[in-house]
Amino acid sequence: MFYVLWNLILLLRVCGDATKQSYACDPRGDTAISALPFCDRSLTDEDRVEDLLSRLTVREKITQLVNTAANVSRFGIPAYEWWGEGLHGVAISPSVNFGGEVPAATSFPQPILTAGSFNTALWNSIGQVVSTEGRAIYNQGRSGLTYWSPNINIVRDPRWGRTQETPGEDPKLTSIYAVYFVKGLQEGHYDGSQTPNIGGPKRLKISACCKHFTAHDLDNWKGYDRNHFDAKVTIQDLEDTYNPPFRSCVEDGRSSSLMCSYNRVNGVPTCADYNFLTETVRNTWGLDGYIVSDCDAVKVMHESIDYAFTAEDAVADALNAGLDLNCGSYLSTYTQSAIGVGKVNSSRIDAALYNLFLVRMRLGMFDGPTNQTYGSLGPGDVCSDAHQELAVEAARQGIVLLKNRNQTLPLYRGGQTTLAVIGPNANASHVMLGNYAGVPCKYITPLQGLVLLGIGDYDKVHYAPGCLDTACADIDHIPHATEVASRADAVVLVVGLTQEQEAESHDRKTLLLPGHQQDLISAVAGSVLPGRPVVLVVMSGGPVDISFAKADSRIQSILWVGYPGQAGGQAITEIIFGDHNPGGRLPVSWYPEEYTHIDMADMRMRPDNSSGYPGRTYRFHTGPMIYPFGYGLSYTTFAHQFASAPSAVTVPTLQEQVCGSDGGPSGKLLCSEKDRGTCKNSMFTVSVIVQNLGDRGGNHQVLLFSSPPRAGVNGAPLKQLLDFQSVYLSPGAQRELVFSIDPCRHLSRVKEDGSHLLDAGAHIFRVGAIKHSFSIGA
Ligand SMILES: *[C@@H]1O[C@H](CO)[C@@H](O)[C@H](O)[C@H]1NC(C)=O
Ligand SMILES: *[C@@H]1O[C@H](CO)[C@@H](O)[C@H](O)[C@H]1NC(C)=O
Ligand SMILES: *[C@@H]1O[C@H](CO)[C@@H](O)[C@H](O)[C@H]1NC(C)=O
Ligand SMILES: *[C@@H]1O[C@H](CO)[C@@H](O)[C@H](O)[C@H]1NC(C)=O
Ligand SMILES: *[C@@H]1O[C@H](CO)[C@@H](O)[C@H](O)[C@H]1NC(C)=O
Ligand SMILES: *[C@@H]1O[C@H](CO)[C@@H](O)[C@H](O)[C@H]1NC(C)=O
Repeated sequence: MFYVLWNLILLLRVCGDATKQSYACDPRGDTAISALPFCDRSLTDEDRVEDLLSRLTVREKITQLVNTAANVSRFGIPAYEWWGEGLHGVAISPSVNFGGEVPAATSFPQPILTAGSFNTALWNSIGQVVSTEGRAIYNQGRSGLTYWSPNINIVRDPRWGRTQETPGEDPKLTSIYAVYFVKGLQEGHYDGSQTPNIGGPKRLKISACCKHFTAHDLDNWKGYDRNHFDAKVTIQDLEDTYNPPFRSCVEDGRSSSLMCSYNRVNGVPTCADYNFLTETVRNTWGLDGYIVSDCDAVKVMHESIDYAFTAEDAVADALNAGLDLNCGSYLSTYTQSAIGVGKVNSSRIDAALYNLFLVRMRLGMFDGPTNQTYGSLGPGDVCSDAHQELAVEAARQGIVLLKNRNQTLPLYRGGQTTLAVIGPNANASHVMLGNYAGVPCKYITPLQGLVLLGIGDYDKVHYAPGCLDTACADIDHIPHATEVASRADAVVLVVGLTQEQEAESHDRKTLLLPGHQQDLISAVAGSVLPGRPVVLVVMSGGPVDISFAKADSRIQSILWVGYPGQAGGQAITEIIFGDHNPGGRLPVSWYPEEYTHIDMADMRMRPDNSSGYPGRTYRFHTGPMIYPFGYGLSYTTFAHQFASAPSAVTVPTLQEQVCGSDGGPSGKLLCSEKDRGTCKNSMFTVSVIVQNLGDRGGNHQVLLFSSPPRAGVNGAPLKQLLDFQSVYLSPGAQRELVFSIDPCRHLSRVKEDGSHLLDAGAHIFRVGAIKHSFSIGA
């Protein structure tokens, strides 16, 4: 009896949750419709979509080509809003309507910080939480299931306002981030099993989107804007910098969508480029899903730039290139007339709709309310304690310790009777979220964290913003800040940026801290009693030139905290007081202000000595850096040692060829297959022993880099990241980490024509400060 009752309650709960969403093929509706083949769950999704398409008129089909897709009431198909955002938590976006029983969602740090954890399991877990909360909100009838995240463009130039949204400057790091995050979104493991559904399920938890394809990393800078920008990109840079994250996102992450960008690449808008969208993404990489334009990118082709002479041309260019969905309204407005004048064939419309409805089918939107795999997720699954704890953990793991003179950090609780908390971001709340934010479950600001979780006594913490805001336009509030600092036992300065300085549609012109922030920091550092700790906390997405603080001996410690999410203040406090030992590493290089002399519109990755162009990112940049990619300290010391690594590697399965005049030291190069050819019989492993020499446990990221022969010459990188692993080591503990290396995939480099080659000669592995040389030959 109890058992029966319990099942009844469960059943009611499932029905109750799911009925707030409307579904096609609902058997409680028109039974003549739910008996049609496209509603028949015993058929394949592909057959169901074919059946549906055979029933729709061209006019009905055209209404489905835009993000705000109309209902098809004849067949009981509800209207659908495709545009959702879930970059670091379910975000405010056209398809998401916070309220009712789901007023908020867990807000994680911006990806630029999370990337600094170099922790694949963490990225996957965040994706799973976003998809669980996304499903729960959908079940409440308050969102769709298609999320246009992640943003995986490479940060070529740190002035880019959207640096915060990305995993940074390295193609390998960004590729791996994309795979794990997308799998978390799409596959999840709702059934409680710890085995992710590798290989890509046909059923999607939610649908992810790799964006913005490609070479898209300039928003608005000195007369250039993203709509008008024509990125001049070499095949070489496309092949080894701009495109690899998209390829991994599609091939390995099995993302069910990709978004083309606003900009042109070598004259052609990416959303009108058949070679990109159809040849590369659909045919070569095998995208199994839909291609969407960035919002109004089709309109831009006609109305902002002169690429398309008429609106119909713009629509035809996009559809015929392989676009399936227009964020915007151009395709619903002009496709009929484009068909009328023979610029688009209806077969192309069918192909687009096939891609679109297959994703909706795989999301379960045609399965009715009681056949939903995730139908029981409800408000209790949003902002749960576990999800909120993961948001704190992501911030803990991403935060980077940049300087810690005399082991000033961590501060000891009870060691200070008074703490001064100073700076325009010291009590940041919404700022901690960055852009593409949702409504967070709650906030813990740095000030709140330091009071409640640090000192534990409100009266002992003295707060002085020092500036009205991060623009810090005047110096009027600095005297109060120095006065507060002069009476304190320790000072925590929280400075940096907000969306006022770096944002979508807003790139920076300077890498310096805005306004008088530097004056504030120096004045405060000069006013503290000798020997009292001054801790500088930089809250920003992109890097800032803090070389003055790096050099200032009065500022003992510096932390970079990104935009750390809803509970950033908790993670910052735990690190400052040593509850957590920081292990994050920079996902972008930090340059001095002189970097801004480079033309931001120059897309070249490689340096050009003749014009003094220094190149981009740690892989190629020849100029000065404040902190390079991968930099980060800990409260403990880790030692590394190559435990086993070959001294010579032969690659017998490859054809040995003379590849041209740019040969390596032996004059010969071993040519791999084009693209990602593997040399199957030449795989080997490298193992690194890492040991914690200190008396504190901590996370440690082991980043394995390599340098080819003649690194930095003729377009070869100085070094490049091959792989990484994140481990926790307790005091004294050691671990052996094994890396599998495929010489063709990991050690090759890209030639000017886009082909990959493996240099014969001496290569070098690098981990931290240690090196291992080995030779490659035939
Ligand atoms: C379908 O869309 C039409 C046009 O927007 C609207 O008038 C109608 O009410 C909608 N039907 C349903 C069932 O939502
Ligand atoms: C439409 O299809 C016909 C027949 O296959 C083909 O000849 C024509 O080039 C196509 N037009 C466009 C615009 O693709
Ligand atoms: C669930 O799927 C089964 C099998 O297709 C079908 O018989 C049943 O009507 C569906 N239930 C609902 C509520 O859609
Ligand atoms: C801090 O370390 C420096 C060397 O890095 C040393 O010269 C100095 O005496 C130390 N200061 C204190 C207060 O321990
Ligand atoms: C800090 O920010 C919180 C959240 O916005 C606000 O409630 C609080 O009043 C602020 N504290 C101070 C001292 O300004
Ligand atoms: C460019 O200049 C750097 C620094 O002077 C030098 O190391 C490098 O070999 C030069 N590269 C080429 C291709 O000449």
